[in-house]
Order: sequence, then structure tokens, then C-alpha cells
Amino acid sequence: MRDYNHYLGLVNEAIENIYYPSQPAQLYEPIAYTMALGGKRIRPVLTLMSCEALGGDPMQAIDAAVAIELFHNFTLLHDDVMDRAPIRRGKPTVHTRWNDNVAILSGDTMLTMATQTITRVDDAVLRPMLKLFNKTAIEIYEGQQFDMDFEQRHDVTADEYIKMIRLKTSVLLGCACKAGAIVAQAREEDADAIYDMAVNLGLAFQLQDDYLDVWGDPSTFGKEIGGDIANNKKTFLLINAMNLACGDDAAELRRWLACSDPALKQDKIMAVRALYEKLGLKELSRKTIEDYSLKALKLLGEVKMSVESHHSFENLINKMVNRKK
Ligand code: IPE
Ligand code: IPE
Ligand code: MG
Ligand code: MG
Ligand code: MG
Repeated sequence: MRDYNHYLGLVNEAIENIYYPSQPAQLYEPIAYTMALGGKRIRPVLTLMSCEALGGDPMQAIDAAVAIELFHNFTLLHDDVMDRAPIRRGKPTVHTRWNDNVAILSGDTMLTMATQTITRVDDAVLRPMLKLFNKTAIEIYEGQQFDMDFEQRHDVTADEYIKMIRLKTSVLLGCACKAGAIVAQAREEDADAIYDMAVNLGLAFQLQDDYLDVWGDPSTFGKEIGGDIANNKKTFLLINAMNLACGDDAAELRRWLACSDPALKQDKIMAVRALYEKLGLKELSRKTIEDYSLKALKLLGEVKMSVESHHSFENLINKMVNRKK
């Protein structure tokens, strides 16, 4: 069993070999641009790691891994349109550098490239792979719609938030691990257990993303800070702030939630962040991230794999929940 960088090297090489036609340039350049910016590539790394941990040859899972990363990047192109996000991976988002239509169609193309790539897995595992992939995709779209619906609601509960991030983010990490298990033709109990482990990692991962959206360093995080606050995203932080704030704090929070004046965006971000800090939400958020990562570690213990493989997954879980980008 090897470390993250070993698997990342295999993934990087496969992604560098993706072929993009030159025309229409406005369709393929944004795809090449997005894929070249990299990102952490945690999902394809999980696929290869899971495959090897469960007794398979990781290179047999490379197409599934690349497909999942293409799919993830497709969701980012559309997500950045939906979230009006200007920066990703330290560079202008596709809809900012080109336009919304380009981001939509290049995103659609990446989705289809992903399904083309996933069908290259061995025939013996193709049917369960496609079933998993399509189920996951639909769940992500559901999660994304809940995320958008929640922008307009002020009564979203913490439970609803967890259900929403499970759909928009966690199931793709689950899918990444289970895809590796399917290629390895692992026992169903192990495939399901590794899926559950990754779903809990995914919850911690999205909570960390929401945390970094408020307290991250923009140059390291590679995304705009405060976008969730500006968009009234019902993150764990905002939901808890709405529940915990009393008196003047509650009134101030309500005032900022009603404010969508672009000229006051930075004031809103600073004020809401200060309220979060006053209400102790930095600590509550760290604690909740820790709880989900402990749950992931516990579920990891239920998957039958070598001690070495366990260590690799443990390292990855700790790395992801303490990440700065
Ligand atoms: C961003 O995913 C979207 C979320 C689910 C938070 P990543 O944080 O994995 O982004 P990249 O691929 O590393 O840029
Ligand atoms: C990520 O949610 C979910 C998907 C892209 C499917 P966010 O909207 O929080 O992701 P970032 O912060 O833009 O990467
Ligand atoms: Mg977003
Ligand atoms: Mg979003
Ligand atoms: Mg985010």
C-alpha cells in the first residue's frame, strides 16, 4: 500500500493523456483549462486506493477513477455558474473567463466524456459500475437543487443540511471508493462498508469546505472567501448562527440576510464572520468535523483490509479534514 502521492501520480498521468479535439475551441479549451488546473484529485485517488486495499490491481480502476474526476469537474463548472463564483483553483472560473453558455456546454461535454470513460471498465463489472455512477449523479443533482432551494429559506434545519451535503458532496466520495471495490470484485459487505466510510469522510470534507469559505486563506484555498455568506447559503455555520443568536445579534444577522446589495458584500461577509466567531461557531464547526472524521475512521475499521492499507486511509482522512485548500 502506498501513499496519496503515489496514486496521485497515476491519476495525473492518465488525466494528462486525455485527448481534446481542437474545434470547437470554445467547447474544448475550457475543459482542458479546468482539467489542467488539477485540484486535489481526492476522488480518483480514493478509487485507486480502495481498489488496491480490497485486493484489486489499481490500474484496472484507472478509467473509473478518471471518469469520476471528469464528472466532479463537470459539476464544478455548473456549480460556479449557480453560485456566481469568480475564482476556482486560484484562477477565473470558466463562466467568468468565457461565459455562462460556455460553462454549461463544456460541462455537459465533460459529463459525457465521463460516461464514455467509465464504460471502458472491464465488461465483468460494467453493469454495477454504471448503476452506481448513475445513481450517484442523480443524487448530486438533487443535492445541488436542495442547496439552491435553501438559499431562499430561513428555516433549514441542521438535519436538512446534513442530508443536502450528503447528496451534493458525500455520495461522490462514496462512489469513488465503491467503484474501486467493484473493480476489485470485493465482497459486498466490504464495498458497502467502504462506501459508508467515504460518505462520512465526505460530510467532514464539505463541513471543512464551508469552514474554509469563511476562515480560509484565499491564496491557498483558491476560491473566493465569503461566497457562502454573500449567497445566504444555509451552511452548518449559518444554520447554527440563526439558532444561537439572541437579541441584537439575531437582529443584526436578520438584517444581513436581507441585504443583497453588491456594494455591501464585503461588509456583510465581515459582519457575519464576526457573529460566527462571537457565537463560538469556529469551535463547534471544528468539533463537528472531528466527529464525522472519527465516524469515518470507525467505519474504516469495519472494512477488511491490511494494516498498511488502513494506515493509508487513516492518513488520507486526517489530511482531508485538516486541509487548507
Ligand atoms: C470542491 O471539491 C467541491 C466540494 C465538494 C467541496 P474539491 O475540494 O475536491 O475541489 P478540487 O477538485 O480539489 O479543486
Ligand atoms: C460543492 O458545493 C458541491 C458540488 C460542486 C457538487 P460548493 O458550492 O460548496 O463547492 P465549492 O465551494 O464551490 O467548491
Ligand atoms: Mg460553489
Ligand atoms: Mg454550490
Ligand atoms: Mg463551498
